[in-house]
Amino acid sequence: MRTVSIGVLGAGTVGAGVLSVLQRKGDRISRSLGATIQIRGVLVRNLTKSRSDDFDNGLLTTDVERILGDASIDVVVELLGGEEPARTYIERALRAGKHVVTANKEVIAKHGYELLRIAADRGVNLFFEASVGGGIPVIRVLRRDLVVNDISQIQAIINGTTNFILSEMEAGRDYAGALKQAQALGYAEADPKNDVEAIDAAYKLAILSTLAFRTDVRPDRIHRVGITALDEKDFRYAREMGYVVKLVATARQIGDTIEANVHPTLLPAEHHLASVKGVFNAVLVDGDEVDKLVLYGRGAGAQPTSSAVLADVCAIVQDIVYGVAEPIQFPERQLEIRDFGDTEARFYLRLLVADEPGVLAQIARVLGDGGISIASCIQKEADADARVAEIVIMTHAARQSAMTDALSVIAHLSCTRQISASIRVDR
Ligand code: NAP
Ligand code: HSE
Repeated sequence: MRTVSIGVLGAGTVGAGVLSVLQRKGDRISRSLGATIQIRGVLVRNLTKSRSDDFDNGLLTTDVERILGDASIDVVVELLGGEEPARTYIERALRAGKHVVTANKEVIAKHGYELLRIAADRGVNLFFEASVGGGIPVIRVLRRDLVVNDISQIQAIINGTTNFILSEMEAGRDYAGALKQAQALGYAEADPKNDVEAIDAAYKLAILSTLAFRTDVRPDRIHRVGITALDEKDFRYAREMGYVVKLVATARQIGDTIEANVHPTLLPAEHHLASVKGVFNAVLVDGDEVDKLVLYGRGAGAQPTSSAVLADVCAIVQDIVYGVAEPIQFPERQLEIRDFGDTEARFYLRLLVADEPGVLAQIARVLGDGGISIASCIQKEADADARVAEIVIMTHAARQSAMTDALSVIAHLSCTRQISASIRVDR
């Protein structure tokens, strides 16, 4: 039986998960592939760190040359995270004629195009199924299974950590405790700022949009808003109105332009993504042939992510042994990315205002002057002593730039005490 040798860069949450699956299921995988996968080395930063018992410590190294410089290694699996040195190691592996599997959304979102070019020139594969949606097979579905579709829209919950935190907050738990738990469960990035500020979701949306719309969408063109400013009251008020609050990544094609953004969103309770809870992710794709398609599963964690990483490894082993390579596809056109200000949404606004006659009229006038129509307005709570009232306004669809301008005028009205929330509502 043919042996395929792999080198693994990283033995953290995902790396240790991959090694554990290979240890437990190596024989069964070999039988179904007709080839044996042999691990030749595992790169880590710290050799003295305590690791799980099913770990062969003899494989660990802090010297990357033991992997990149080993001519017998066919496949490099990059699971370090972060932009550097991961990008450089991937490039070096590809240039050395090694196939690469990575779970690194930052590197693929920022440098995927250039790295895929190198892979194509060298005649090797660069696969990144685990970079989006953890255990959900979404990359291969977009690349292969939906190939005949013209995709008009993707709407997705693609960060497990934030969906876990929002689900906990929805159930009345506090933000800091939920984040700590997500970190302990291995869901969060090394720097959780990447999760809670929607940086990770923007990388993932850049990857999905590039594949879905066959155009180059870089993460710096994606407008993003994280979850750190959300308040327990917004969950409560949203629920009373029949909505849930989710961090939603949306990309749609409008004519020859692409709109792509990630931000907290009020979703109607009956929306396909509204019931996605905890670490689960879901990707809703609109294709002209397939119509609506929802892919749902665990978006983070050692086991689901290892499943996706090893699916890529197995595809490469099959290519090495039987020659069944999947062709590398490149963006075939360049569509313009719309400025966020030019996009449209309905809005949920929560304002703290002076509790006195004429206040609502002043606010309605500012919104009206900006062409923004009010769908409903409810006074929620009042503090008679402080003479302030909290109001919640739902608008009809309006341009983002008009709302931004109106809010800056409202902020300066003498009756305004605070603009507590401005959250986009799913159309
Ligand atoms: P992690 O737990 O922080 O593990 C990182 C591993 O890489 C550790 O073993 C660390 O060594 C090693 N490492 C980091 N920098 C290194 C360097 N410069 N030289 C040598 N070794 C280095 O990260 P993770 O959660 O497994 O994530 C890995 C990748 O998978 C990231 O790109 C992440 O975005 C992606 N991903 C993660 C998940 C998830 O659920 N966690 C899901 C999908 C995708 P030590 O062990 O010695 O510290
Ligand atoms: N930190 C990421 C998340 C890991 O929470 O979704 C999976 O990509």
